[in-house]
Amino acid sequence: MKKILLSGIQPTGDMHIGNYFGAIKQFVDMQDDYECYIMVADLHALTTVQDADALRKNIFNVTATYLACGLDPKKVHLFQQSDMSVHGELTWILNCITTMPYLERAVAYKDKVANGKEASVGLFDYPMLMTSDILLYDPAVVPVGADQKQHVEIARDTAEKFNRIWGETFTIPEPLILESTGIVPGIDGRKMSKSYGNTIPLFGSDEEIDKAVMGIVTDSSGDVPANVYAIHKLFKTEAELAPLYEANKGKYKALKDALAADIKAFIGPMRDRYEEIQANPKIVEDVLRAGGTVVKARAQTKMAAVKKAVGLN
Ligand code: ADP
Ligand code: TRP
Repeated sequence: MKKILLSGIQPTGDMHIGNYFGAIKQFVDMQDDYECYIMVADLHALTTVQDADALRKNIFNVTATYLACGLDPKKVHLFQQSDMSVHGELTWILNCITTMPYLERAVAYKDKVANGKEASVGLFDYPMLMTSDILLYDPAVVPVGADQKQHVEIARDTAEKFNRIWGETFTIPEPLILESTGIVPGIDGRKMSKSYGNTIPLFGSDEEIDKAVMGIVTDSSGDVPANVYAIHKLFKTEAELAPLYEANKGKYKALKDALAADIKAFIGPMRDRYEEIQANPKIVEDVLRAGGTVVKARAQTKMAAVKKAVGLN
């Protein structure tokens, strides 16, 4: 029996190469070795996207991105979080064994509020919904970017607490974070993130990729532009890059041109597939419908066991 893997991405905007290397690539690389549950975390996205048309479009685009990047719906259970009403149901039960001071320690929540985001109850409870997403499927591993590690730890703590109170019910999940790509830097050297506006789009046009790469912040103190190199390393090995950087010491423009060309070569085939899917929306609808049916049966079975454990049956 294969071990179970679960993860998800929020449909909150256009995907960038940080999402690809930090999250999606891992799902694709692991799909043969694990039984995979990969969701479009649309309920989480409601904490940010409150425009119905934009949310619908984002849900479509994240699913199309998963497929274009190589997730095979024959191997992976791809589904939409909001199709599974039991995620919300379990969240309520978990809320009842979680304290406010415990959730107040969540770094992602504190950062968002410190940056001026309204402290909605949903934003505060975000980690408990994510905990439900995870625990309902008993995954052994949850691959995520480094910024999500604490949320997986919250899922672990909560599973342990539930098991102590009501008996062994949930598997304790492990976060899986790649050393090399846990934090993909953005064009300003900070973590690449939609909210910092420092991204290189995953499926941008050639012009958009050029523009983002030319915007990479360089300082003139050394031969090697650190921010360019840090991103370049995602696309080529250090051995491949060594002669290029040696031959172009201090020539930032030439190095950026080389990086832009490497990004386009790497992304090209996936971008073609993404465009094909955009032209055939039924592909996405069919995948989500099929995934939803299978996943729902499993989630409901687990939820029935949870209700029995707590005395709600
Ligand atoms: P953003 O920070 O742009 O809003 P999300 O929070 O939607 O990105 O992230 C979706 C997934 O991509 C998560 O698993 C997250 O950890 C991963 N991820 C996002 N940005 C990066 C990054 N710069 N490096 C590595 N992983 C990232
Ligand atoms: N919070 C995650 C993010 O920001 C998305 C997510 C929702 C998730 N539910 C999950 C990730 C369950 C892993 C497992 O990207």
